[in-house]
Amino acid sequence: MPAHVAVIMDGNGRWARARGLPRVAGHRAGAEAVRRTIRAAISHGVRWLTLYAFSAENWRRSPAEVLDLTGLLRHYLKNEIAALAAEGVRLSVIGEPGRFAADIQADLAAAERLTAGNERLNLTIALSYGARAEIVAAARAAAAAAAAGRLDPQQLDEERFGRFLATAAMPDPDLIVRTSGEQRLSNFLLWQAAYSELVFLDVLWPDFAETDFSAALAEYRRRERRFGARPG
Ligand code: IPE
Ligand code: IPE
Ligand code: MG
Repeated sequence: MPAHVAVIMDGNGRWARARGLPRVAGHRAGAEAVRRTIRAAISHGVRWLTLYAFSAENWRRSPAEVLDLTGLLRHYLKNEIAALAAEGVRLSVIGEPGRFAADIQADLAAAERLTAGNERLNLTIALSYGARAEIVAAARAAAAAAAAGRLDPQQLDEERFGRFLATAAMPDPDLIVRTSGEQRLSNFLLWQAAYSELVFLDVLWPDFAETDFSAALAEYRRRERRFGARPG
């Protein structure tokens, strides 16, 4: 069983287009898939689940779509956090939550505080997240620590550098799943994905079901992880 599953939730727009609906209908249906996925992770005993909800590059979408997406995020936070807390979910955010409206930032911070003691599932939501920006921020923090005399540059290794990343407290993802048939990482967890198994599913995110989650886990179990150590 993978300890950490990360999901690139893609295909909301195509799901809506196929039904002759506006894109926002796809995002709304995608929120239902988030609920199903959290339940599936809990029932399979996955301890860490990271969901790519909004990329740093997604701000380039039309103002109307950005407004729809942030509106749904606001709605989700107001309506779901109590239930998540009751289910034993610990919520964390990576990315740039400071780019969202003040009330969303406040709700995110409150949700993190409220759920900080939970242990059943570590749920991380990537919001305005970009892996390159994360790595640059970590490099900047390491350089500042060195300039302040708190870090010897000679001592900086992969493990220490990882502590400057937003993901310092979590294990690297064992499995990264992307829906919608696209086969790319789109600036998601580039450092952390060094040895992740990648599973690409043809299902569109709003259709993602518990059976798809199980299928991705089954595919993961068929993989042979080598970490470079074993010759073919
Ligand atoms: C994923 O679905 C949701 C976000 C990236 C916010 P898309 O909106 O990317 O849907 P497609 O890829 O256009 O189908
Ligand atoms: C990646 O999906 C980001 C999220 C799922 C939040 P996109 O739809 O934005 O990625 P590209 O543009 O197809 O690479
Ligand atoms: Mg997409």
